[in-house]
Amino acid sequence: MEFDLTGGEYLARAYKLLAGLVTPRPIAWVTTQDEEGRVNAAPFSFFNLLGTDPPMLGFAPGDREPGVPKDTARNIRRTREFVVNLVDESCAEAMNLTSSDVGPEVSEIELAGLHTVPSRAVAPPRIAEAPVALECTEWATLEMGGNRLVVGLIRHVFVREGLVDPHTLLVDPEAFLPIGRMEVPSGYCRTRDRFQMPRPR
Ligand SMILES: Cc1cc2nc3c(=O)[nH]c(=O)nc-3n(C[C@H](O)[C@H](O)[C@H](O)COP(=O)(O)O)c2cc1C
Repeated sequence: MEFDLTGGEYLARAYKLLAGLVTPRPIAWVTTQDEEGRVNAAPFSFFNLLGTDPPMLGFAPGDREPGVPKDTARNIRRTREFVVNLVDESCAEAMNLTSSDVGPEVSEIELAGLHTVPSRAVAPPRIAEAPVALECTEWATLEMGGNRLVVGLIRHVFVREGLVDPHTLLVDPEAFLPIGRMEVPSGYCRTRDRFQMPRPR
């Protein structure tokens, strides 16, 4: 099958096709604060690690309507700080609840029965229930049509005890069980079925 995305019908329906095909995707569960210190949480699967020297990540919140950013993107523009919490099997349902389309006066954290813990390097707190938290400052936000690409510099990493060997820094695949975003509209995957494939010399 072929799909022309330069205009027309398939371009208008590109989300279903592309978000269903480019899988599995990691999920950035982003906490931010507004000017009054209210904590916002929302998941974003248009997300990845972009590099390690310096340590950078990026995620892409779409605008609610032309020129109107989602709360996460708006808060980051104003405060320049955010935390990317990672999502494992145990917090999958809570993560999903925080994607509810509620106004800035409603706390997604409370709505999902979650708790926060102060971060070390940035003002927005991390999610206590998340196994990993990447504390970031905004490097840049690119505006591309109806998308924004938030690029963050990772300043501090929290990892729950028991997931990473403190000497080798290698992750224990039996202990760290992130989920991935799969097919539209509501597919996810577990990551228990792993295999090793050393790179050729
Ligand atoms: C697993 C998952 C992944 C999502 N990924 C994205 C994404 O990459 N970009 C986006 O704009 N919205 C994404 N959403 C929808 C947002 O989470 C949702 O619009 C949320 O209400 C935004 O919250 P905010 O206005 O507090 O920032 C995703 C939702 C879920 C459940």
